[in-house]
Amino acid sequence: MLRFENVSKVYDDGFQAVKSISFEIQQGEFLVLIGPSGSGKTTTMKMINRMEPHTSGTIYIDGKDNNTYNASELRRSIGYVIQQIGLFPHYTIEKNIAIVPQLKGWNPKEIKARVDELLELVGLNPEVFANRYPKELSGGQQQRIGIARALASNPDIILMDEPFSALDPITRDQLQGELITLHKKLNKTIVFVTHDMDEALKMGDRIAIMKDGKLLQLDTPEKLLHEPAHGFVEEFIGKHRIIQNPELMPVIDIMSETVVTSLPQRSPEKALALIRQRKITNLIVVDEENKLLGIVSAYDVIKQLNDIQTIDEVLLPAEPFLFDSATAKDAIIMMDESPYGMIPVVDERKKVVGLVTRGSLLSAMSSQWTDSEVAE
Ligand SMILES: Nc1ncnc2c1ncn2[C@@H]1O[C@H](COP(=O)(O)OP(=O)(O)O)[C@@H](O)[C@H]1O
Ligand SMILES: [Mg+2]
Repeated sequence: MLRFENVSKVYDDGFQAVKSISFEIQQGEFLVLIGPSGSGKTTTMKMINRMEPHTSGTIYIDGKDNNTYNASELRRSIGYVIQQIGLFPHYTIEKNIAIVPQLKGWNPKEIKARVDELLELVGLNPEVFANRYPKELSGGQQQRIGIARALASNPDIILMDEPFSALDPITRDQLQGELITLHKKLNKTIVFVTHDMDEALKMGDRIAIMKDGKLLQLDTPEKLLHEPAHGFVEEFIGKHRIIQNPELMPVIDIMSETVVTSLPQRSPEKALALIRQRKITNLIVVDEENKLLGIVSAYDVIKQLNDIQTIDEVLLPAEPFLFDSATAKDAIIMMDESPYGMIPVVDERKKVVGLVTRGSLLSAMSSQWTDSEVAE
């Protein structure tokens, strides 16, 4: 979709801002460019839509050299969002969003419908906001308009240069969550510049780390954290970072290690006594070696108390379960499929080592997940 091949940029004053970088971005990918100030992030981004021409190498968009596209068409076909928002103060919100569709010659009815749709998409009521002026909006609302405007003509690629860095932490967190949701929904290719590692880890499918015009490493957040390719990368990430992304949080850190288990030969009366004593709703059934066999629900035991000899007769499959190498994210996804509201965690020999419940999962996540992410 987007490919850099040995791309360099030497500015007119002879300064080399970008030094022979090569990388590829897939359609629908969320790529974060991160690095210290002056490392060449903005320059790299601006070369994509030719706001800054590159001085050597080739940039391919959909397999075509970006120098072969008509420059203004190229700019209009790629969405662009910047920190300073760049809304026109004398234009209403509606007119601000409509700029590119207007340039593209859409008819007024199409434009109006698109503006309303985009305002809804970024969580602003068109009836309230369409006719306001930028200064009548908060910083976060203005940034939402910036995003709506970048999406206006339905571009495949969106470039975002530190779009949230001027916002207060709460608004930033909220917009980050909304952008993640939006990205999943729209499947756009996003190149997102930041200097904030937390933001990068939260947002990026992959993260590219730049320094002094060079691309040091481009990897998934997990790989960056576990296998930093360069001393600088490790330093930049921060060695004692508190990992906030559930994808990076091991399930063994959030599970409960006290699991009430039973052998399958237990009588229903004894099982019921255990269930009552430990105030649980499901019993995890294991063999002599503590290997997971299945689950028995308290409800089934009570219902069939007089009809069964052992709980083995009401044993339900242990699906779903998690291995101890799984992440909190796996648990979150799996919890939706779990009919029991809990998931046993086993080691590689299938011995039960813990249990994740919906409650423990939520309390581990609630401080770290924004509302919009939980709502997905
Ligand atoms: N128009 C320009 N002329 C000369 N040097 C520039 C120009 N724009 C940026 N630079 C220099 O190129 C380097 C990279 O800048 P930039 O891409 O904006 O970095 P970042 O976005 O990572 O902070 C910086 O040292 C900057 O001073
Ligand atoms: Mg910059």
